[in-house]
Amino acid sequence: MNKLPLLLSATVAVSTVAFHQSLQMAYAEEPQKPHESYVPGLGDFMTAYVQPHHIKIWLAGHAGNWTLAEYEAKELRETFEDITVYQPEWNNFPISQLANSNLMPPLAELDQAIRAKSPGDFEKAYHRVTAACDSCHQATSNGFIAIKTPKASDFPDQEFQPR
Ligand code: HEC
Repeated sequence: MNKLPLLLSATVAVSTVAFHQSLQMAYAEEPQKPHESYVPGLGDFMTAYVQPHHIKIWLAGHAGNWTLAEYEAKELRETFEDITVYQPEWNNFPISQLANSNLMPPLAELDQAIRAKSPGDFEKAYHRVTAACDSCHQATSNGFIAIKTPKASDFPDQEFQPR
């Protein structure tokens, strides 16, 4: 019996297994992601979450959409809760302390005004919240960042009027 074909096919089989093994190893090693998980910097938190929620609170409340205003105010508070966990300090400034002392009291007033569905109280409390944003910017040598009441919607795909 000629053993050559048998030998050949055995060689092919072994090298196929070896090829698959090396592929598997390559895949096992492939995802070389960094070990630390991603944490947004304070500036990222501000631009990506704080600023849009601050704008949307106004757009919703000004339109008398109290349900949406309440939702946005809750999102803003939750963002600051995340900030106190992930970025409690910035350039040696005590960010969580400043947020708790400066921003949380006017934010609580804003919640009350929204629950009372009072346009007058809402406007006053919103201006206090905005002033609190800038009081922290000033306290952290960021006085050049000036926050104001938005004039128009930056979110053309979202309805702010109540349904
Ligand atoms: C407790 C302190 C604190 C409070 C409160 C705070 N900020 Fe900030 N904010 C900062 C700091 C510090 C920076 C600079 C961060 C950096 O450069 O990494 C910043 C940066 C920003 C920026 C980035 C500027 C840019 O154009 O990229 C925006 C926008 C901003 N804040 C909006 C707000 C708004 C709106 C509020 C209120 C709802 C607010 N911030 C409240 C501390 C605060």
